[in-house]
Formats: sequence, structure tokens, C-alpha cells
Amino acid sequence: MKNQSKSPERHSIKIRKPNFDLEKDLAHDWFNGSAFNTGFENSFSLLFPLGEKAFIESVRHFQKEIKDPKLLDEMSSFYAQESVHRKEHQKYNELLCELRGYDLEHLTRSQVKRHQYRYAQLNPYQRLASTVAAEHLTAIFANDLLRDKDHFGLSGKEVTKLWYWHALEETEHKAVAFDVYEAVGGSLKMRRRALLLASYFILKDTFRGIFIMLKQDGQLMKIRTLIDAVNFLFIKPGVLRKAFIPWLQFFRNDFHPWQTDNRDMITQWEDSIPIKN
Ligand SMILES: [Fe+2]
Ligand SMILES: [Fe+2]
Repeated sequence: MKNQSKSPERHSIKIRKPNFDLEKDLAHDWFNGSAFNTGFENSFSLLFPLGEKAFIESVRHFQKEIKDPKLLDEMSSFYAQESVHRKEHQKYNELLCELRGYDLEHLTRSQVKRHQYRYAQLNPYQRLASTVAAEHLTAIFANDLLRDKDHFGLSGKEVTKLWYWHALEETEHKAVAFDVYEAVGGSLKMRRRALLLASYFILKDTFRGIFIMLKQDGQLMKIRTLIDAVNFLFIKPGVLRKAFIPWLQFFRNDFHPWQTDNRDMITQWEDSIPIKN
């Protein structure tokens, strides 16, 4: 039988059940005291509970068409990892809103609406393509994070541990949705279009969340916020600047997530993140 999984041989996707105590960190601007950097990460977290539910469903829809036992095994690990991510980020988001007085319903309104109306109209291939695209974006940010041990500087410990744990698992399962998409004959054109749309909506939702949080905290019009934003996005660490080339690679005909082989990062981080199981 033809191998439908294109992940490296003997690569495994592990299920972990971490337990993060985020209260101390989330009560304040935990990312180096920077309102912008903290807002960026906190806002990014808001996307996961709904997003990862959709990822799981879009892949599971094609389960019956997959015959390769290796890919089937990776798919069930993917569901398990993403459902733990959803739960941990839901706890993160609820605690954040409780501690800082944000309105979670207001913060997530635009993504909930899009999910109910726009996303609901997509066909199963389009949904899977949007998962493949979103997984590419998370894999890019995950790789950057794992390669930069100083990304969070001297920030609070538990919340940064959560981000590194998520990045580690996103790296482990980065090719699962992609391999399913290829196995069921998803088109290149649809995959490319999905990346453009996913990038637009993810950035839009993230910046909407940052804007609301900064405004409520009275930090929106501060010079420090502007300087931090330029630095964080384009200079150091420059998350958008660094993402650009890997983002473009997705448009190649022969792209595969494991062309960037960063298994070394998985091994390194696995040993250094003290996850309570
Ligand atoms: Fe995830
Ligand atoms: Fe993922």
C-alpha cells in the first residue's frame, strides 16, 4: 500500500497532559512588562479553542478515506493533542478575562461569527485546506519560538512554558492535516488560496484582540506601545519579518512541512520543559 504519511520514519506524536498554573502571570503584562507583546500573545491564545475544534473536525471528516496505518495513527494523536490545546487555551482565556476584566464574548465575537456564517458554508475540502494553511502558520511561529530560547526574555515562567509546550506539539504534528489533504486529492490552487485567507483572518483577529485589550488598559496611544509593536513584529524578535520566507514556501508545488526538518528542536525542548504529567 502507498504510504500516505510523509512524516519522517520513527517520528512520533506524543500525548501529554500538562498542568499550568497561570494565575500569577496572567494578572499582569507578563511579557517583559510590555503591554503590546503581552497583548499579542494573549490575543493569539483567543484563537485556539474554536480554531482547533475546527481543525480536528475537518481532518476527522476524511478519516474513512485514509488507509495508511501510520497516517491513521498520526491522525488520532493529532486529535488528542489539539483537544488538550483547546482546553488549556480555554482555561488561559477565561482566567485572563477574569483577572483583567476583559469581556471574552466581545473579544471572540468576530471569529465566532465567521465560524457560524462563513466557515459553515465551506465544503469539506475547503475546510481541510484552511486547516492545512492554519497549521502551516502555527508551524512557522512554533519553529521560530523553539529556536529562540530568549523569545520571552525574563517573563513569567508558567505561561511561557505553556507556549513552548504548544509550539513543541505543533511541530510534532505539523504535517498531519497536510498529508490527509494530499491523500484525499486536495488541489494546489485551493491550498494556496486557503493560506492567503487564513493569514488574513488570523492577523485580523489577533490585531482586533490586541486593540481591544490595549484600549481597555489605557495603553493604546502610548509611545512605548508603538515602539514595542514595531520591534516585536519587525525587528527583534520580528515575528512577522521572520515568518515571511517560510510563509512563501507553502506556495511551491512540491512543498511539504517536513522539508523544514526541525526534529532537533523537539528533542531539545522535550528535555527542558518540565511538564507535570
Ligand atoms: Fe494546537
Ligand atoms: Fe496544530
